Amino acid sequence: MTSLHLGDTAPDFTASTTEGELSFLDWKGDSWAVFFSHPADYTPVCTTELGRVGQLSEEWDRRNTKVIALSVDSVQDHNSWKPDVEEVSNTTVGYPIIADPDKTVAVLYDMIHPGEGDTSSVRSVFIIGPDNLIKLMLTYPKSVGRNFDEILRVLDALQLNASGPFATPADWRPGDRAIVSLDIPTDEAKELFPDLDVVKPYLRYTNSTSI
Ligand code: BEZ
Repeated sequence: MTSLHLGDTAPDFTASTTEGELSFLDWKGDSWAVFFSHPADYTPVCTTELGRVGQLSEEWDRRNTKVIALSVDSVQDHNSWKPDVEEVSNTTVGYPIIADPDKTVAVLYDMIHPGEGDTSSVRSVFIIGPDNLIKLMLTYPKSVGRNFDEILRVLDALQLNASGPFATPADWRPGDRAIVSLDIPTDEAKELFPDLDVVKPYLRYTNSTSI
């Protein structure tokens, strides 16, 4: 079993998908990516999840983010299930779905958790940066559909963090003030961010998140 950590380079692989064969890191290029697994085609929760990801296509594009799904079903199954997903959510699934019947990719990304009932993949999410490093890992049980608004929120927070010395507080939403990283001493932070709100020496907020 592999053990992946935040900050690791996303493992590369070649796989068959609904959009043809692809090499993961070539396909990703220098975009951000959301790589998520689901347990099985023709199942209720998965149907709603893949539809929701399709509905959010403009949001992924706005964030320069490619999305890709995976399950251990075949390309043929993905292709025959896809119209149901599109009908139920009134959307288009315009992103690739990886077919991983031999579980090579699912094992590489530690998506198989046999305690969750069988050896299909659980609901994993990886956010991968333009530098190909893993920025976020989430693992949901098979019974719980994911909140893709939260995935968008994390993408926004990660992209803010990539843009400057910023972190985000609990329940941060885009437009809220950000925390100035402790890498910046308070004197310097006051010059960079004239609105700096020093709540504690180690907790400094700003609304000026473009530098
Ligand atoms: C579902 O998508 O509804 C599902 C799939 C596998 C196990 C449990 C639920």
